[in-house]
Amino acid sequence: MTHIIRTATADDAGRLAELAVVTFPLACPPGSTAEDIAAHLASTLSEANFRTYLADPDVTVLAIDAHGELRGYSLLVARPAGDPEVAAVLTKLPCTELSKCYVHPDHHGLGAAAELMHASISTAAAAGARGLWLGVNSQNSRAIRFYEKSGFRTVGTKSFKLGNTVEHDFVMERAVTP
Ligand SMILES: CC(C)(COP(=O)(O)OP(=O)(O)OC[C@H]1O[C@@H](n2cnc3c(N)ncnc32)[C@H](O)[C@@H]1OP(=O)(O)O)[C@@H](O)C(=O)NCCC(=O)NCCS
Repeated sequence: MTHIIRTATADDAGRLAELAVVTFPLACPPGSTAEDIAAHLASTLSEANFRTYLADPDVTVLAIDAHGELRGYSLLVARPAGDPEVAAVLTKLPCTELSKCYVHPDHHGLGAAAELMHASISTAAAAGARGLWLGVNSQNSRAIRFYEKSGFRTVGTKSFKLGNTVEHDFVMERAVTP
């Protein structure tokens, strides 16, 4: 399918939230409860949340746009890591966070994610970052493999709260160059 990758705007908030409902559960470990997933969607990935992200000058949301339908997105945060577990292990500073990277399952395995990653790396580099870091659930083997293919290496671990459950994430980092 023909698509473009573009910077999302406030007009995309609703469609990003709809996409998150489809894609966020795919990143959750098998034991996640529907309640915990719903709580995370409501607290972090709602239309109102996306409006807030899109209004934040440190945040960039990139969207895969296929004739007006959003099929994937990434969310970059260009500020120092607030989590001390993360800040302690990052080596390529300043380091932008790839906070979210999700592709609709219809487009998995077809190269769309690689294009989104390429655009995300270029965006971070253009904004002056020397590194890009992310957290990924330690059971999310597909995403870990994708990030390894994309040049990331595991540099540490961090905790992530999903609803009432504490999950363990790998912290991965890669260099970016302008
Ligand atoms: C992560 C994501 C963006 C990657 O996109 P993708 O199109 O699936 O990526 P690719 O197909 O290029 O790469 C995935 C790799 O994992 C491999 N893979 C697939 N299922 C796997 C599994 N269960 N265990 C291990 N590896 C797996 C694939 O074979 C491929 O590796 P290969 O190219 O060496 O064969 C996409 O899968 C996605 O949106 N997943 C759901 C949301 C998510 O988990 N996001 C990340 C949150 S941190």
